[in-house]
Amino acid sequence: MSEAVQTMLQTNADAARETEREADPGFLWDFWYPAVRSTEITGRKLATAMLLEVPLVLGRTSDAKAFALRDSCPHRGMPLSYGRLDGQVVECCYHGWRFDACSGRCVEIPSLTSQDKLKVERIFAGHYPCAERDGYVWVYMNEPGTRLPETIPVAPALPVFSGKYKITHLACELPSHIDHGIIGLMDPAHGPFVHQSWFWRSRHSIHEKEKQFEPIPNGFRMSKHSPSTNSAPYQLLKKMTGEPVTTTIDFVLPNQRLEEIHSGKLWFSSRATVTPVRRDLCRIDFVAAWNVAFLPVPIFRMFGKTFLRQDQATMIRQAEGLKHNPQLMLIDDADRPAKWYFALKANLIESRRTGTPMVHPMAGPVTLRWRS
Ligand code: FES
Ligand SMILES: [Fe+2]
Repeated sequence: MSEAVQTMLQTNADAARETEREADPGFLWDFWYPAVRSTEITGRKLATAMLLEVPLVLGRTSDAKAFALRDSCPHRGMPLSYGRLDGQVVECCYHGWRFDACSGRCVEIPSLTSQDKLKVERIFAGHYPCAERDGYVWVYMNEPGTRLPETIPVAPALPVFSGKYKITHLACELPSHIDHGIIGLMDPAHGPFVHQSWFWRSRHSIHEKEKQFEPIPNGFRMSKHSPSTNSAPYQLLKKMTGEPVTTTIDFVLPNQRLEEIHSGKLWFSSRATVTPVRRDLCRIDFVAAWNVAFLPVPIFRMFGKTFLRQDQATMIRQAEGLKHNPQLMLIDDADRPAKWYFALKANLIESRRTGTPMVHPMAGPVTLRWRS
């Protein structure tokens, strides 16, 4: 191997190690994360995103396949997003090195002469598996410095229950570490204080609740139940179908909260993911689908945005407090889901480290009681 290549590879290896050393130990690698909406990569446009502190450039090849590369040219680190996409190839804006968009393989270095022996095809830009589902481009984030596994699980899809349905997407950023973002999402006790709205509930509607939970692979489920009667939308649904309303809520690692509501033939399905962008920033991507005729998309979006803004405003304030590294506590039973989350995460990391099966923190069904 020529000295030039060696130096280059060395620098890349150092860069990979650097990332590895610096990566937040709280990040869960080897999972799919939503990077951008599908509509952000049209034509020859290149979009950027950051997932788990890895800068990405995303686009779509001329045959409509979404791709994600590390937004850094392996030559001298120029963000590839400043370059241009030409069908199948991304060209760096600095010295014009060209990379196959899907594999990251270098296909041309314009400065080379016929005398040069450099094996261009051995040079790669970092590249990540991509899949499109429910209007998102998902990226499989394997840990820096590791190889992709032989088989990659399929990217998550929102469960839907009929051929025709309405679907809508919302997003908001939280200035928080992923763990605070996630436990904020599953926290049942903030509702009466944060989500007071005339259309939903008032602070005075607080009452005792008892919910059954059960373990599921990589997560836990609030077992199928009839949702609380203090919420007008549920009452309306019940009136429409004359059948009971049931809800199931799942949390699944690394970051998904899935909710299904059914009443007769009517259904509503939603998923919120909290994705780490950086260690101090995460993003909620919320997608909902339903076949309930009385719920028009604009009305739902108005309610949904209100909810998300309430959570966002709360977490902006909480971030002020967390800057000073306070001691925190998790109490029973309202914070038990948060405890399960931390245990699931720790047990998953441990099982990956030791190569042994993951121990689930719940031995079986559990009943939790709290007031909200
Ligand atoms: S930095 Fe990209 S080609 Fe030189
Ligand atoms: Fe909330």
